[in-house]
Amino acid sequence: MPEQILQVSDLTIRFGGLVAVDGVSFSVPQGGITGLIGPNGAGKTTIFNAVTGFLAPTGGRILFAGQDVTRRKPHELAALGLARTFQHTSLFPDLTVRQNVWTAMHLALPETFWQVLATPPRRHPDGEQRVQEILDLLELAERADQAASSLPYGEQRKLEIALALAVKPRLLLLDEPAAGMNPEEAQRLTETIQQLRRLGLTILLVEHNMRLVMGVCDYIHVIEHGRKIAEGAPSQVAHDPKVIEVYLGRRGTNA
Ligand SMILES: Nc1ncnc2c1ncn2[C@@H]1O[C@H](COP(=O)(O)OP(=O)(O)O)[C@@H](O)[C@H]1O
Ligand SMILES: [Mg+2]
Repeated sequence: MPEQILQVSDLTIRFGGLVAVDGVSFSVPQGGITGLIGPNGAGKTTIFNAVTGFLAPTGGRILFAGQDVTRRKPHELAALGLARTFQHTSLFPDLTVRQNVWTAMHLALPETFWQVLATPPRRHPDGEQRVQEILDLLELAERADQAASSLPYGEQRKLEIALALAVKPRLLLLDEPAAGMNPEEAQRLTETIQQLRRLGLTILLVEHNMRLVMGVCDYIHVIEHGRKIAEGAPSQVAHDPKVIEVYLGRRGTNA
């Protein structure tokens, strides 16, 4: 059995009267790609927000690498090796692609944003090399000197992954990384995610693109209305009557 890098037990999150997440438990084994799927509003992003410290859960416990991290702050979790992308873009639009990655890398250090920008790259020689490695990995090297806002949408989404990688995470949480991508971009992203796994990263993936989810995940948890309704290997989940009902019963709202 591989080590469970993340263990979420009985997680509950209320917003006033709304129970957005209702007693959800799941684990993420080290080195694998675990999927979290479900219709819009199921509670997936809320679970991400709790796991990454952006939201204090109402109840339950979160263990990261065996350590209780429930209610830790986002920067503390990032320092422990937990990084995420956002469902909505979180780039620095006016900075170049390279400056974006550089800044994300140094925001993890105890320097201010302005100190980071004022620091010439040669003062951090290995940092510069790491930025280049990340840009190569995500096929963004040719865009390095362009403003982030000038990139096509699919590449902006890849730059978000680059920013998350800049903090050298052990566990990467991706929230709908293929949203808005065309099929070709989504296929390239699938290959990139597989490459990240080969490099030793553990991934927790929220995604609506079923081809991507079924193609990369080892194991999938299905959430509906804040509750887990199914889990298993992709082929198992794809044939689960409850899952088929949730997806086909709402044809058109999710794909
Ligand atoms: N900050 C918030 N305040 C109130 N309700 C919220 C908040 N964030 C999410 N919700 C609600 O919680 C539910 C789950 O949302 P979310 O986690 O974004 O779903 P998903 O990511 O699965 O589409 C939805 O009903 C949503 O409207
Ligand atoms: Mg969401």
